[in-house]
Amino acid sequence: MTTLGIIGAGNIGSNVAKAALAAGHDVVIANSRGPETLTDLVGELGDHARAATIEDAATAGDLVLVAIPLAAIDTLPTAPLAGKVVLDANNYYPGRDGRIAALDENLETTSGLLQRHLPQSHVVKAFNHINARDIPADATPAGTADRRALGIFGEDPDAKRVAAAFLDSVGYDAVDLGGLAESWRLERDTPGYGKPMTAAQVREIAAATERVVQQ
Ligand SMILES: NC(=O)c1ccc[n+]([C@@H]2O[C@H](COP(=O)([O-])OP(=O)(O)OC[C@H]3O[C@@H](n4cnc5c(N)ncnc54)[C@H](OP(=O)(O)O)[C@@H]3O)[C@@H](O)[C@H]2O)c1
Repeated sequence: MTTLGIIGAGNIGSNVAKAALAAGHDVVIANSRGPETLTDLVGELGDHARAATIEDAATAGDLVLVAIPLAAIDTLPTAPLAGKVVLDANNYYPGRDGRIAALDENLETTSGLLQRHLPQSHVVKAFNHINARDIPADATPAGTADRRALGIFGEDPDAKRVAAAFLDSVGYDAVDLGGLAESWRLERDTPGYGKPMTAAQVREIAAATERVVQQ
C-alpha cells in the first residue's frame, strides 16, 4: 500500500484518486484554494482519502501526482518534493496556459519544464494521454487480455519502475518510452492521445508519431 499525494483535485486528480483508492492505496489531496474546499470530494472518496495543503500532500506522498494546469507548475513547492517520484499528467493547451515559447518551438516538453522546476525530484510523465473519466472506468487487473496501457517517460530508471508498479496496481500496463525529451509522443494532437491502446499499440503508435509545430 502506497500513500499517493495529489496536487490538483480536478478531473485528473479526483479520478486518479478513485483508481488509487479502489486499489487499496491512501490518498492525500490538495488544490489551490485549501483543504476546507475539498470536504465534499474527500467525503465522496471515503475513509482512505484526506484533504491537505499543497505542502502536506507533497510531504505525505510516497509518490506525488501533479495534476494542475501547466501554467501553474512554477508555483509548486520544491523542498517537500525533493527526492520523490513525481507523476506528471500535464499537457499544453495554449488557450488555457498561454503561449510558452520553448514548447511552441519544440525545444522543451511539458514534463521537461516540470523537471527543471523540480531538479531534485524524479519526474515521470504519466496519465496525460487518457481521458480523466476513463482512469477508474478502464482499470483492469494485471494479466487481463488486451489490458489498457499507458506510456511513461522519465530520466530515472528506478523512478520509472516505481511509476510502472503504481500504474499496474491501479489497473494499467505501463510502457517505458524513454526520457522526458520524448514525452511529446503522447501529448495533445498526437495519434495516441486519448486512444485506448494495449502495450504493443502504445509502443507502435508512439514510435510512429512525428513531432509537429504546436498550434
Ligand atoms: N481532464 C482530462 O481528461 C485530462 C487528461 C489528461 C491530462 N490532463 C492534464 O492534467 C492537468 C490537470 O487537468 P484537469 O482537467 O484535472 O484540470 P482541472 O479539472 O481544471 O483541475 C485543476 C486542479 O488544479 C488545481 N490547481 C490550480 N492551480 C494550482 C496551484 N497553483 N497549486 C495547486 N493546485 C492548483 C485546481 O485547484 P482550484 O480549483 O482550487 O484552483 C484544481 O483542483 C492539465 O495539464 C491537463 O491538460 C487532463
